[in-house]
Amino acid sequence: MSIESEFQTTFKRPAQVVARAPGRVNLLGGHTDYNLGLALPVAIDRAVHVAVAARDDGFVRTVSRQIGETGEFEIGDRQPVGRWDDGVKGAVAALVEAGGAPTGFDLLVDSDIPMEAGLSSSAAFLVAVASAVFTLNNRPLDGLDLAKTAQRIENDFLGTPCGLLDQMASVLCRPGEAILIDFRDLSTRPVPLPSNLHILVGYTGVARKLASGEYAKRRDECARAVARLRELGELGELGEKDATTLRDVSAEMLDRRRLDLDPLLMRRAFHVVSENERVIAGAKALEDGDLLLLGALLNRAHTSLRLNYEVSCDELDAMVTALRSADGVMGARLVGAGFGGCAIAVAEHDFDDGALAVIASRYKILAERDGRVFAVTPGEGASVRRVSA
Ligand code: GLA
Repeated sequence: MSIESEFQTTFKRPAQVVARAPGRVNLLGGHTDYNLGLALPVAIDRAVHVAVAARDDGFVRTVSRQIGETGEFEIGDRQPVGRWDDGVKGAVAALVEAGGAPTGFDLLVDSDIPMEAGLSSSAAFLVAVASAVFTLNNRPLDGLDLAKTAQRIENDFLGTPCGLLDQMASVLCRPGEAILIDFRDLSTRPVPLPSNLHILVGYTGVARKLASGEYAKRRDECARAVARLRELGELGELGEKDATTLRDVSAEMLDRRRLDLDPLLMRRAFHVVSENERVIAGAKALEDGDLLLLGALLNRAHTSLRLNYEVSCDELDAMVTALRSADGVMGARLVGAGFGGCAIAVAEHDFDDGALAVIASRYKILAERDGRVFAVTPGEGASVRRVSA
């Protein structure tokens, strides 16, 4: 059933605005966004759908089909309470901040992106909600404005210290393409995907939360590595902005300072610097149709995320091993923040349900728990439309 019909059934009146925002997989560029580095995401064919219609009182009623919960709050209530619809409050707060004066509304959300799996379900939720709520109030948002608004809600309202990768991917990707994002100036370049490239996702069955503290810790470690390099005079001539991120640190610089930088900070920095290089090489491999190289880059990225950045876990390593064991898989790595969630693989042919089940059963042997393996197709970025006055 479409989100419009579901809205009609739920609220007994038509929706006025419907919005859709997809999840993403990031082929390369793990933990680079908040270091103003590079990434290479693809939107997937799984998305959050939101439908809204205005009410003439000051209440917001929310219904989530995916988690089977409802909620209600007053439009003036700006207090997150740790509930699934806090992001809706955050979107209202962002609208007020932007000069809007919203009245109440009903909101229905449905999604087929698994939650807390590293596929950007929360960013897609906030992109779709912000897009619907702003459009309902005649202040449509698009492109980078929409991505940044969704990120602001997540950072400032929900207190999750994420970068801008997930939101930009959800808003800006298109079918058949990855985008190469440069987080220094937020520029993007479409990179066409070879027609024989297939992408698999393996869910470990272990949910992960960004707020668990490790993500913020990695951000802090990167900042400390830069501060130390500055102290050593390595980043002296650069301006304030550049010199607070790892973007201007090179592999040679790290090598030169290998005895002066704390070994842990060195590993964190080396991951980010080498990952940016892998993104550039990965974009070229896609353009050249070189899936062997692309796969090797994913494999190297996983090793670096595991050993240098330490964001993997036994289940992610097991899923990567299971994915790599399948004939036609060229490489695999963990995706998203890590600490659970999903791994992705690139393959040179498609996989039927039987072949996907074989990978899942190998995962079960290795990890001693159930996982799920499915194929994703590079899909359409976010969209919004008015369906009635
Ligand atoms: C999460 C964050 C992103 C990004 C990735 C790691 O998905 O939301 O901003 O940092 O982790 O690449």
